[in-house]
Amino acid sequence: MADPLTALTPCFEEALRKAFGDDHTGVDPLLRFSDRADVQADVALGLAKKLGKNPREIANAIVASLNANLTTTAICDRIEVAGPGFVNLTLSNNWIAQELSSAASDPRFGIPLATKPETVVVDYSGPNVAKEMHVGHIRSTVLGDALVRVLAFLGHNVIRQNHLGDWGTPFGMLIEHLVDLGTGKANDVSVRDLDTFYKEARAKFDGSALFADRSRERVVLLQRGDLATLDLWQRLVGASKHYFGEVYKKLDVTLGEHDFAGESMYNAMLPGMVAELQSKGLIRESEGALCAFPTGFKGKNGEPLPLIVQKKDGGFGYAATDLAALRERVCTRKATRILYVIGAPQQQHLAMVFAVAKDAGWLTPPARAEHVAFGSILGPDKKMFKTRTGGSVKLIELIDEAIGRASALVDEKNPQLDERTRDQVARQVGIGAIKYADLSSDRIKDYVFDWSRMLAFDGNTAPYLQYAHARIRSIFRKAGIEPSHMQKACISLHEPAERALGLELLGLGAAARQVADTLQPHRLCTYLYELATAFTTFYEQCPVLKAKGEATMSSRLALAALTAQSLECGLSWLGIEAPERM
Ligand code: ARG
Repeated sequence: MADPLTALTPCFEEALRKAFGDDHTGVDPLLRFSDRADVQADVALGLAKKLGKNPREIANAIVASLNANLTTTAICDRIEVAGPGFVNLTLSNNWIAQELSSAASDPRFGIPLATKPETVVVDYSGPNVAKEMHVGHIRSTVLGDALVRVLAFLGHNVIRQNHLGDWGTPFGMLIEHLVDLGTGKANDVSVRDLDTFYKEARAKFDGSALFADRSRERVVLLQRGDLATLDLWQRLVGASKHYFGEVYKKLDVTLGEHDFAGESMYNAMLPGMVAELQSKGLIRESEGALCAFPTGFKGKNGEPLPLIVQKKDGGFGYAATDLAALRERVCTRKATRILYVIGAPQQQHLAMVFAVAKDAGWLTPPARAEHVAFGSILGPDKKMFKTRTGGSVKLIELIDEAIGRASALVDEKNPQLDERTRDQVARQVGIGAIKYADLSSDRIKDYVFDWSRMLAFDGNTAPYLQYAHARIRSIFRKAGIEPSHMQKACISLHEPAERALGLELLGLGAAARQVADTLQPHRLCTYLYELATAFTTFYEQCPVLKAKGEATMSSRLALAALTAQSLECGLSWLGIEAPERM
């Protein structure tokens, strides 16, 4: 167990039990890394309130109990009370070194699997058929994929759900446009053209009453399951899926063909779902439509806000599909945690869907749904990110531009690289830059899309972390050793910079758990940035290849190897590759 917080938590629980009896074993000791000591706990403050006692007195009792515990004293050099009643712990150098050595020889870096593994559905990406993925979908795709990777590493059973927009009224006009073009077309309409395709269909729909009527009739045929119509629809869906698959591959995200769970998949479940809501008295007619009115949702004038479950014409919409999907995820797939990685503007929609699902008894503990909301990507003018001509920026073009820009940078930094390596590194750096820019800031905030910042080799960026990794790899090339050969080396910590780096290295697991708990990948980015910074300080202050004495050199090489491997692992959770050289 390489992580101090995990190692110390049972010690705290034991100490609390000894000092205060079984009544208080349920309190979360809330340990965290701190600048004041290595680890700090504020459990005494909460407990004092609960017991009506002086927090310092409580903290003293905890410290006495911790000091009487052999495991704790083996981990810590000093345990003391600070300030109003904090417990400060200073880890022993020996313990840190020993944990680092065992982390180094474990492919999981000693990070334990979740004690209660869950089935987690992650609903992300969710592009729409016959529409280009735009920058709005990039955030969902990149954030969702990072969450998936972290949760899977921690041992959860993750089910990816790509809620493809493949149903609804727009398909009437899309299919009619396909018919006009000659029905053979869909096969060769590369979806790059499908955006144009969508716009052309829309223009005809808005400009011609005849076309609009045909489109409406076509929707009816589609809903009725008319075979010829379904065939045309299938072509549009197939071409789009194929295209999205290419984008995912290019962007290096883990979504595949079998993760598509399009809206249409739920069609057959909708009547049963509505019947169940009806029998539970949760929906009623309002202006011809069947609506749910979950408590607590009010319109502008304080009137109850409807969630439309079935429209006046009998059709089902976005909300109905989401209700059916939620029911299926909990009741059939047995998910206990469902994450919706969707932009902040859909907050109310989701909150209402969750509320109805709770009222219906589908979403009951331990099952819970969470909206992983995110803000917008802004252009340099702080307005919505658009192309120079005001159009929406296409994801695929963004990726290509990132790779192009990265290629020029790599050329400049390292002109000696052969062409193949250069292209590969450019791809890794370009994609890393885009993803990291998205992941490294608090997701709920908007962020400004800025090529020069995201591709900078200094600051909290992907290229900085990738470069830190590559630099360590170059130390090993110079020494003619593989980093993996340092697994068994004995690590000892003497210099402050060695200790600081060692302590930082033990935080990888805590960073992963924090992402799993808070669903905020930027915390992992911050950790990796601090790790890279700690390495830089270490490397400035502690010669590695010129270290005095074989043992010191070997220990420092082992620290360097573990740093490179931790950076590589942390970046991989973000969906970012770490090149060996750049
Ligand atoms: N297709 C939707 C959109 O583009 C996103 C789907 C999100 N997932 C969901 N279960 N509603 O806005």
